[in-house]
Amino acid sequence: MKYFFFTGLLLSTLGLANAQTAKRLNFTVKADSIKAHVQPTMYGIFFEDINMAADGGVYAELVKNRSFEFNTNLMGWAEQRKDGGNGTVSVVDRKTERPENPHYLTLNVSTPKGYYGLSNEGFGGMGIRKGEMYNFSVFARQHVGSKISLLLELHDSTGAVIGKTTLTPQGTEWKRYHATIQANTTTPKAKLYIWAANKGSIDLDMISLFPTHTWKNRPGGLRADLVQKLYDLKPGFLRFPGGCIVEGRDLANRYQWKKTIGDIDKRENIMNRWNVEFEKRRTPDYYQTFGLGFMEYFMLAEDIGAEPLPILNCGMACQYNTGQLVPLNQIDPYIQDALDLIEFANGSADTKWGKLRIALGHPKPFNLKMMGVGNEQWGEQYIERWKVFEKALKDKYPQIQLISSAGPDPSGDKFDYLNATLRGFKADILDEHYYRNPDWFFKSVTRYDNYDRKGTKIFAGEYAAHSPNKAGTENANNWQSAIAEAAFMTGLERNADVVLMASYAPLLAKVDAWQWKPDLIWFDNLNSYATPNYYVQQLYSLNKGTDVVPLTLNGKAVTGQDGQFASAVLDKKNNELIIKIINTGKDTMEAAFDISGAGSLRKDGLLTVLQSDDLHTENSMSNPSAVKPHTQTLTVNGKNLVLDMKPYSFNVIRLKFAAK
Ligand code: AHR
Repeated sequence: MKYFFFTGLLLSTLGLANAQTAKRLNFTVKADSIKAHVQPTMYGIFFEDINMAADGGVYAELVKNRSFEFNTNLMGWAEQRKDGGNGTVSVVDRKTERPENPHYLTLNVSTPKGYYGLSNEGFGGMGIRKGEMYNFSVFARQHVGSKISLLLELHDSTGAVIGKTTLTPQGTEWKRYHATIQANTTTPKAKLYIWAANKGSIDLDMISLFPTHTWKNRPGGLRADLVQKLYDLKPGFLRFPGGCIVEGRDLANRYQWKKTIGDIDKRENIMNRWNVEFEKRRTPDYYQTFGLGFMEYFMLAEDIGAEPLPILNCGMACQYNTGQLVPLNQIDPYIQDALDLIEFANGSADTKWGKLRIALGHPKPFNLKMMGVGNEQWGEQYIERWKVFEKALKDKYPQIQLISSAGPDPSGDKFDYLNATLRGFKADILDEHYYRNPDWFFKSVTRYDNYDRKGTKIFAGEYAAHSPNKAGTENANNWQSAIAEAAFMTGLERNADVVLMASYAPLLAKVDAWQWKPDLIWFDNLNSYATPNYYVQQLYSLNKGTDVVPLTLNGKAVTGQDGQFASAVLDKKNNELIIKIINTGKDTMEAAFDISGAGSLRKDGLLTVLQSDDLHTENSMSNPSAVKPHTQTLTVNGKNLVLDMKPYSFNVIRLKFAAK
């Protein structure tokens, strides 16, 4: 399709044809009237270990329950025998000696011939690729007089061996051993077999298998395909670790960053709170190993060019669950955790926590600038705790921007109380959450138009259009939800002086092990696909510009008139004007833009369209591109632009200013 620009006239052949049928709307853009500055952090991402996002997901460990710390210690493992071999397995508890990793295995081989051992089922199988190398590691010690050798095999789902190697641990002291297996087949559902041969006994712990190919090829690292999708969003910030996981079902189950750094065998595993959250979506094998802990988090944020935005527990467990509270006179350790995290991220070698960061391999500070105090907290109990947190953090680090909870809903008593109270205390930034139906998103496009411009700012910290209800199993990442988000986001953009940051939630979901739907990116053991909602986020992020300028229809912001939603920004770095316009109607619309205050525009422009004729369209593993952006060039001639907007379409127009 071709588009031309001409003062007042449409030259496009298709446009002329449509001019007789499509309704024409005349928009005005004043490119010299800057309304707000767009923060570089405006569009970011929200990471929570829900839906197997970390363990079984982006954290590339293939062995489930590698350190035997699940409540059922051998969950994920099965005894195996071959060639006449036999033996017994026992789980040993050394709680006093190693409280953070108390359990290990003893394999006792009772036969001089054959093999006895265990298999691990992975996270719904292990995704293995032909030709790739896999790093096996184990902590092991022989019992006195034993000379057990290990045969390590990968089996596909038919039981065929698709890669193997051997390893013979030496000595009776704990030591970490490594071996490499090359796979000769690609399969999404492999298992790892650990066979022990020779009569005797051996102790094993931290049995691990990673692909050598990870993000940046870091040993024990993250799944490269999934991190690439995060990178491709060019996110302004990375919120971590959630979400309700920050709070825990009870305080013992809360996220504690200090337990997630350093040697992985010393990171205490806990049950993932989403394991038991939803009656109909139980995932009994969902635990947190914290292999993706706070050091990996800061490095991930750095890798993908995002500002870190950690959210910390403020002495409150999830108020939807136990709602346990830390008494105010016992809250100091929680505050200290927050202060220490800032020192860990930013401190020099002279500080305790800065020194540790350096020892862990990152001499440069992470330049942490913001932090969340609690997740979805509410009520007076939150305010009481918030006040002591705020005082301690601001006293020591006045430059750190604090994110404060506006509760779980965008309106109602909880919201009103927090909104009024925290604004009264001149809180820096309020974290608003909205999981609502698409209609709410359309209607809420003006939500921020009348917010106070000078006081507390907004972080739209979790949102997604749910059709039809919150966290229901029938919610879909369809085009209906995505176009509603696109329309709503014009309201975020128009109000970029108030809304400093926004993130869709949740981020990742495993196709056969999710708890919450919809989500931005779906994956299985080998592959992943981006949803239409992902592409909406990406188009905003890649086209966020630097400054908001007015785009109007009959003198008013475009907030749903004739089914249209629109906003415009300048990109001062690239000397461009970027228009986002969403046609939510079922008919093609003809959009005419009168652009003033920009001098002349260059001939070459770009139009990117995200569209589907059917609002029910979803992407999937087998059809990942049902809805995806298509870009074409525009030829500009003058300062007016006329184009057809397809039914149900999100259009991003980039126009270059001619050099002065
Ligand atoms: O994004 C899923 C959950 O929704 C988050 O953990 C919580 O903050 C919200 O209720």
